Amino acid sequence: MMKKSNRIAKLAVAAALLGLAALPVRAQSAGESLYKTKCAACHGADGKGETAIGKANKLQDLGSADVQKQSDTQLTEIITNGKNKMPAYGKSMKPEQIKDLVVYVRALSKK
Ligand code: HEC
Repeated sequence: MMKKSNRIAKLAVAAALLGLAALPVRAQSAGESLYKTKCAACHGADGKGETAIGKANKLQDLGSADVQKQSDTQLTEIITNGKNKMPAYGKSMKPEQIKDLVVYVRALSKK
């Protein structure tokens, strides 16, 4: 009897750990695929802005310190409301999708 409940407890712990481990991976890959379809045309797949549109608009490298020093709230606002030639995505994306994108923009600093 004791043994059985022990095994159930271990299974529950393993399931919880798997659930936790799966979260950031899901968020990052969702952000990554969104970024590739919606943002890379201007910002480039690596975020460096080395595209025709990026060069014409003197886009900053999204991974650079100048961009990364902005808070998550500031980045969320730029993506939601746009800024100059940066399109606004607040109407076409859900808040969770914009959050995933901010996570992905953070990951670009490590590339
Ligand atoms: C049509 C081209 C275009 C697309 C598509 C685009 N951006 Fe931008 N983005 C810009 C421009 C231009 C700026 C610079 C705005 C400014 O500061 O004048 C910018 C600025 C930014 C900034 C702020 C960087 C800084 O200099 O502080 C972030 C963050 C950003 N974009 C993220 C995204 C994300 C995420 C997407 C996809 C959902 C996206 N952009 C799609 C053109 C684009």
